[in-house]
Amino acid sequence: LLAWALLHPGGGGGEAWPTHTACRDGGLEVLYQSCDPLQDFGFSIDQCSKQLKSNLNIRFGLILREDIKELFFDIALLTKGSSILNFSYPVCEGDQPKFSFCGRRKGEQVYYAGPVNNPGFIVLRGEYQVLLELYNENHSIVACANATVICS
Ligand SMILES: *[C@@H]1O[C@H](CO)[C@@H](O)[C@H](O)[C@H]1NC(C)=O
Ligand SMILES: *[C@@H]1O[C@H](CO)[C@@H](O)[C@H](O)[C@H]1NC(C)=O
Ligand SMILES: *[C@@H]1O[C@H](CO)[C@@H](O)[C@H](O)[C@H]1NC(C)=O
Repeated sequence: LLAWALLHPGGGGGEAWPTHTACRDGGLEVLYQSCDPLQDFGFSIDQCSKQLKSNLNIRFGLILREDIKELFFDIALLTKGSSILNFSYPVCEGDQPKFSFCGRRKGEQVYYAGPVNNPGFIVLRGEYQVLLELYNENHSIVACANATVICS
């Protein structure tokens, strides 16, 4: 999947990108779709479970549309159309890069496989909509996705 996404950048042409499965296991299913008109990207979560472990290992691959000296991650969680949580997290900050890809330039490829330093939590039964956005210090979008999380 990651390889596929990297080999098929650009040319959205107004059509929606395909829906990908980030993980499906232990009563939890995470599906996502790129909402960036310019590119799809690869993303997966290694251990899926409704008792989500802390420090999950994820993988993602994308081609940078923008420089990412600084990179921010916004997440909005909704259920049945009503907002339940907004969260913003600095991924790369000028003087303290947390990840090896911080500082990469536009046009470069980023592939990350490793932990994300999240807290552990239990996902309550239900279906959730998640909007994810990565943007740089100029608020230029680097990646955008909408996801559906189904916990049974
Ligand atoms: C993403 O949003 C579109 C448009 O609202 C929706 O049709 C699609 O099902 C969503 N995809 C996922 C994986 O949630
Ligand atoms: C942000 O915008 C400024 C002014 O246009 C530009 O000099 C700078 O390179 C931009 N930074 C990034 C990371 O694109
Ligand atoms: C999250 O942000 C959206 C858009 O800014 C806002 O409408 C919503 O009320 C916020 N939700 C929470 C739980 O703060």
